[in-house]
Amino acid sequence: MKRLEGKVAVVTGGAQGIGRCICETFAREGAQVVAVDMSDLAYTCENVEGYKLNVTKRTDIEQFIADVVKKYGHIDVLVNNAGITRDALINKMTEEMWDLVIDVNLKGVFNLTQAVAPVMLDQKKGSIINIASVVGEYGNIGQSNYAATKAGVIGLAKTWAKEFSRKGEAIRVNSVAPGYVNTEMMKTVPDKVLDPIREKTMLGRLGEPQEIANAVLFLASDESSFVTGHNLSVNGGLRL
Ligand SMILES: NC(=O)c1ccc[n+]([C@@H]2O[C@H](COP(=O)([O-])OP(=O)(O)OC[C@H]3O[C@@H](n4cnc5c(N)ncnc54)[C@H](O)[C@@H]3O)[C@@H](O)[C@H]2O)c1
Repeated sequence: MKRLEGKVAVVTGGAQGIGRCICETFAREGAQVVAVDMSDLAYTCENVEGYKLNVTKRTDIEQFIADVVKKYGHIDVLVNNAGITRDALINKMTEEMWDLVIDVNLKGVFNLTQAVAPVMLDQKKGSIINIASVVGEYGNIGQSNYAATKAGVIGLAKTWAKEFSRKGEAIRVNSVAPGYVNTEMMKTVPDKVLDPIREKTMLGRLGEPQEIANAVLFLASDESSFVTGHNLSVNGGLRL
């Protein structure tokens, strides 16, 4: 039996990087996946459907969730993965940089979850996973906006774990906090920044998207049926 057989999963930021790897992993494990992204999505995989959507657009999100429920009947898993960076030291960070990162990384998670929650509450079950970051756990120079959002989504997961189970529903909400992972996002980071990070990582290297997807798969599947309100660090032993 595949680990997500019969489940419908919505994954934001599914066009590339960690999100894409999560979509492909879920599909291999038998889920019907709806991959959401504001960029074009190119999937040849039979059980991954691409849906172009900006996680900041609340009215589009309502329509999207209605479409998914109409087509598939239920939503079992939501992965809030879409995220961006606009880095600068606090004295150089513009209001625009602050607002944009908050809008996508924090409010986007609120938007999707608020739209999916009634569906899961009706079903009385589901699993929601917020993708946080090691930066949300420890902070990082030049990333006030990003750190605030990533600490924020850990707090949201813990809050929703309580809210969505208070009438006995089996809705679990967790976060995964990756360390530094080899994706497009990392290509903008110079080696002079990455080398000290490798040195500070117990395993001495960056992570691979599949290693994050494996942790998300565990939390999405029934194997983690007694895990909720938890933040799972997947960072090779990195402390910033
Ligand atoms: N790569 C890392 O080292 C790392 C480390 C810790 C946490 N993370 C987190 O993991 C997640 C994925 O990171 P990644 O490295 O794969 O990033 P990525 O930039 O490769 O992919 C992010 C995806 O999100 C999409 N996206 C951005 N804004 C969107 C919006 N408004 N609406 C819909 N889609 C949107 C992008 O189009 C892109 O496809 C992010 O939340 C990121 O903060 C990444």
